[in-house]
Parts: sequence; C-alpha cells; structure tokens
Amino acid sequence: MKASELRQKYLDFFKSKGHTIIPSDSLIPQNDPTTLFTTAGMHPLVPYLMGEDHPGGKRVANVQKCIRTTDIDEVGDTTHHTFFEMLGNWSFGDYFKKEAIEMSWEFLTSPEWLGLDKDRLAVSVFEGDADPESSADDGAGAPFDEEAYEIWRKLGIPEKRIAKLPRKQNWWGPAGETGPCGPDTEMFYWVGDPDKVPESFNDDNDQWVEIWNDVFMEYEKTKDGKFIPLKQKNVDTGMGLERMLTAMNGLDDNYKTELFWPIIEKIEGLSGKKYGGSEEITKAMRIVADHIKAAVMIMGDDKGITPSNTDQGYIVRRLARRAIRYGKQLGVENNFTKDLAQEIFGIYGDVYSELDRNGGRVLEELEKEESKFKDTLEKGLRQFEKLKKDNIDGKEAFNLYQTYGFPLEMTVELAKESGVKVDEEEFKKELEKHQELSRTASAGKFKGGLADSGEETKKLHTAAHLMLAALRKILGDHVHQKGSNITAERLRFDFSHPEKMTDEQKEKVEKLVNEIINSKLPVICEEMNVDEAREMGAEGVFDSKYGDKVKVYLMGEFSKEICGGPHVKNTGELGRFKIIKEESSGAGVRRIKAVLDN
Ligand code: ALA
Repeated sequence: MKASELRQKYLDFFKSKGHTIIPSDSLIPQNDPTTLFTTAGMHPLVPYLMGEDHPGGKRVANVQKCIRTTDIDEVGDTTHHTFFEMLGNWSFGDYFKKEAIEMSWEFLTSPEWLGLDKDRLAVSVFEGDADPESSADDGAGAPFDEEAYEIWRKLGIPEKRIAKLPRKQNWWGPAGETGPCGPDTEMFYWVGDPDKVPESFNDDNDQWVEIWNDVFMEYEKTKDGKFIPLKQKNVDTGMGLERMLTAMNGLDDNYKTELFWPIIEKIEGLSGKKYGGSEEITKAMRIVADHIKAAVMIMGDDKGITPSNTDQGYIVRRLARRAIRYGKQLGVENNFTKDLAQEIFGIYGDVYSELDRNGGRVLEELEKEESKFKDTLEKGLRQFEKLKKDNIDGKEAFNLYQTYGFPLEMTVELAKESGVKVDEEEFKKELEKHQELSRTASAGKFKGGLADSGEETKKLHTAAHLMLAALRKILGDHVHQKGSNITAERLRFDFSHPEKMTDEQKEKVEKLVNEIINSKLPVICEEMNVDEAREMGAEGVFDSKYGDKVKVYLMGEFSKEICGGPHVKNTGELGRFKIIKEESSGAGVRRIKAVLDN
C-alpha cells in the first residue's frame, strides 16, 4: 500500500462517517507560544476541544504534519521519528467512546478498509489512578476506564489482549502545559511472525507496535495542576502514518517504507555503506534520514524558519548538525544535505505544496549551514578529544558551542559515548551571560533608528489587528481570527467567514484600515483580567491559557484585542495597507495575505 492510498482511505472513511476533512495546520503553532512545534493533530484544535465552534462542525478529520523533539534521542530505532504525519479524527462534544472505538475497529479490520487480521491486534485501556475514589475534579485522579474495556470486549477482543495500563501509558495530553486531556485506549499490531502471535498482549514486547490512540478528552489540566471536567466530552485520535504503512506492507522497519527508503538509498550511495551492514551504520543512517527530513519540513513550512540559535531555528540547527556529524561518521566526504533534501521533496512535494514554494530557500539554507559547520566540526572534534579525559565543565562546553558550533546536546551525546559528563547547568549560565552581552551590543547598534526586520513584523502585526476589526465591521460579527502568520514581508491571516469576499468588500476593508492608519491613533496596551476584557468586547481567545491577567491592545474604539504584542506605538507608523490575496483555507475559513507599502 502506498502512503497516498493510506492517507486517502483514512480521510474517505471518516468522511463517510460525517467528518469534515480539514487541511494540515502549520508545523509552527500559531496561537500557542508555550510550545515550539505542533506535536499532535489535536494541537491546533485546542480551542474547539475547549468548546469553541469549529467552522467544519462537530466532526473533523485530517492528516497533520507533526514534530516531536522529545523523541530526538530515541531516533535510531525502527519506529521513532522527529517528523511524522498523524492521521486523526475528532469529535467536539459529539460522539464519544463507543462510536470512536467502533469506528477505529471498523477502519482497521473491515476488508473494505484496511482489512487487518483481527488476530494480530491488541489494545490497552486506562487502569485508573491508585486512588480512584478521589475523582479527577480535585486533581487527584481518574477511575479505571471500564466503559472502554467493555466496548472492546463486546467487539470480540479476548481479555488477554486488553491490557489495563497506568497513567504513564494510557493518559494523553495536554499538548502544552495546560489544556484538554484524558484517558486513552491504544491499539497495537503484531509485526512479528504472523504464525507466532502471542496469546496475551504485553506492552514490553516491541513487536507489538502501537498504531493508533483514541483519547477521550473530558478533562482540562489547569495551571495549578488540577484536572477539571471539560464543558464537553471530546474524542481526539491519532494514528502514525509511518507505522501504519510499515504494518500494511508487512515490513518490520519504518525506514524501509517509501517515506524513507529513497533517502536511505541516497545515503548508501554517498557513503558507500549498506543499510543493515552493522547496527552502528543502520542507526547512523536512520538518524541522518530522520533529522534532515525534520529540518527540511520545518524550514519548508511557510513560517520561514532558518537555522539559528533560538527557538525553532535552534532545533533545525541541532538536527542538521547532528545529521552532519553522523554523515561524517558514515564516511560521507562532500556536502550531502541538499541531495537528501531533494529526495525529501520527491517524497512529500505532492502532499505539501509549501515545499514547492519554499524549496529554494531550504536548499540554500541547508548548504550554508552545512558549509559553516563542516569547517569547524573537525577542529571541534579534535578539541573534544583533548577534553574528554575528564568531565567537561560548563565553560569548555560553552567554548565548543561558541567556537566550534557544537549544540550543547551534541557535546552531551559525545561525552556520553566517552563515558564522561557535561556540566549543563554551568553551560546555561555561561550562555546567559553571553546573551546579556550581545543584547546590550545589538541594542547599541540599532539605536540609529534603522528599521530592522523585527520592526516590519511588528508593523504588520498591528495591521493585522486593524484588519480584523475592519473585517468584523464590513463582513459581520461572525468573523474571528483562526490563525495568523507574519513575516517581515507580509501578513497572512485566517478568519471565519463562509464565502469568498467580493472585490467591493476587499476594497472597503482596505479603505477602512488605511483611514485608521491615517488618523494616527495611539496604540495602547492595558492589562486587565479576562472578565474585564470580555466585558469591554475585546477580541481574542478566552481560554485559561492566558491566565487571569491579559494584555489588551487598544486603538481608539476601533480595535480591542487580547494579545501579547509587540505593536507599534501609533497607527500612523504603518504605511499603506494592501490586500494581495483572499482565498479559502478550509471549510468556513478564509485567508488573506496583505502587505504594507512604506
Ligand atoms: N493526541 C493523541 C496522540 O498524539 C491522539 O497520541
């Protein structure tokens, strides 16, 4: 089975069950500053799990691009990846456990869909917390999920194949620090010898591979660590495309599927070594393939991430540099990351059109990063050899970072291989000291008042507030923000609206925004609590993520919006606002791209 066929079957199945198919969201969360990446399909859907209306209705499904950095150190085995695609279906307060489980079972086993052998499937359910008497709403625990257990039993799963597992395994979420979560039930497929399927399920045996997770999101984790019941009972499911594809093709290794194999073959060609030649070679090839793929997918997202020393850019740098080190270990002499990126475009170009748009930049950035790092890698490794006799103190680790470009994690990994330790705390102190210095230096540099790229982004951010207010005036109060993405060049803004905007409406919005710009309104920021913000009619997401106090940005009576900033001081700074494009961005959601001409 091809990956494209599996994606399509999944979406067709859930469409036939009344789900609206929605596009994959960005890999970079648009409204959650607490995490760097979209880690699961539910991540961009948190507002709807919390009770907001989704324009697609109460049932949606999609294929979501995900990045999990927590798995970076596990990469190297057959099933863990930094980038992966998640097939997911959701119920926002609509169906719950019974229907969710029955749909999963039907999709997996019906000959019309995946037709998996029922005898190679097993499941797990939440066994409940140690003290089930204390209910979840005082933060102490949740009971055994007897309902899920019974549903599986009625579907004919033998009791020996239904494991009851603790919170560590069978509780999912929240995706960030707070938010929706709940007990889950997981489905496993036996990838070992089909004639030797064990009678009982044992989650320690890695030939039972987890393929799907149905989460029953009925709790919200609050800031003080409590679990309180949500307004509505939701379902959030996630099936790993790579794992499922492996299972469907009777393979025992995700890297042997078409989602990885062309990359592996390329690495074989470049290194002259064979995948499977030794454990060390196989692991190195997997790490290289996984990391370059993840780096390409992050940079290929429209947000324009490039390797850097902070946030998402740092993760890209860390992935790329680790891959480059392993490439060297495999004996690859010349720059190779660009060649691998081409293979990755080949694998995903048809599915994620953003790779087409951003491919040129991705290749350029990879080449730059590789050339830069290769220059210092050799010398840095020699330096490391000298150091490794003892534990490595923070200053030395910082020097490896500063002078040779070794991400801390790489030094830690090298140290581990040599059986020594790194003082990570001291490293962080060194880093902070250094950052203080460089911030002071750059503050001096920009005192001249020259607009840097941050300034342009800020202006477009303020313009986005004006545009939302204008859209609400011209189109109506049903318009709310659904996402935004701002670079130094343009703003991209998604909002709820059921139909294409007419030329006249677009002109009216432009005109109104430009009027407000020309009237030079001061931009004022006020802190208040959520209720006050709601009372004054501010726009924004009113969920607990924001805590008690929120910042509201005000531009006269025209725009009031909950927002973390930053913004310009006066609308007069913005220049001329212009809409470049208005298009659909999923069911009931429109997308505007706009710019400011100075
Ligand atoms: N959000 C759930 C997961 O990632 C489905 O496993």
